Amino acid sequence: MLISFEGLDGCGKSTQVQLLAERLQSLGYPVRIFREPGATPLSEYIRQLLLHTEMEISPIAEMLLFNAARAQLVHSAIRPALEAGAIVLCDRFDDSTTAYQGYGRGLPLAVVLQCNQIATDGLKPALTFVLDVPVELALQRSQKSDRMEQAGLLFFERVRWGYREIALREPDRVICVDATYTPDEVHTTIWHHVCRRLPSLL
Ligand code: TYD
Repeated sequence: MLISFEGLDGCGKSTQVQLLAERLQSLGYPVRIFREPGATPLSEYIRQLLLHTEMEISPIAEMLLFNAARAQLVHSAIRPALEAGAIVLCDRFDDSTTAYQGYGRGLPLAVVLQCNQIATDGLKPALTFVLDVPVELALQRSQKSDRMEQAGLLFFERVRWGYREIALREPDRVICVDATYTPDEVHTTIWHHVCRRLPSLL
């Protein structure tokens, strides 16, 4: 079972991944956590290229690099973990590319979705949580200044809008959670949704 966490930088994803992992582990479920971009040597290398460079990277090159990192992660880490019976929690997955490169950078959605499909080899999360926060709050919480963070307010508004569209399009998979609440309150909402699916998805 693959569960992904999505949202703007600073929305609190990493905290929620950690809280859910601890809760599942305390009940005896095997859990693996991965973050995107990263988690394999090649993907970490691409992460450095994408986030910490002065080089010009075109929107299409950026989209392909995120997907190259993802292809390696799916192939060498996520699929093996799922086959071993783990619940896999992913801090970002293909919806990040749809939201950031599709809606944010303005690449044609059909192209982005097709590349995502190739990179993931058709693997879809069983459940995706979009942690929704206003852009101002997200930027305030996020202390980073990497390449993506320099994209500007309007870019992040488009990304937020994109996530909402994704949730509207796939309501069975994607749950939009108001992440302006405290971490414990957000976790309670997430746990409620995970519990409803656990028996059928394990
Ligand atoms: P990271 O430091 O992992 O931030 P976060 O904690 O917000 O996940 O940086 C990842 C950055 O890359 C973030 O700004 C979102 C962006 N990103 C994309 O633009 N497209 C993608 O497909 C992925 C996975 C991430």
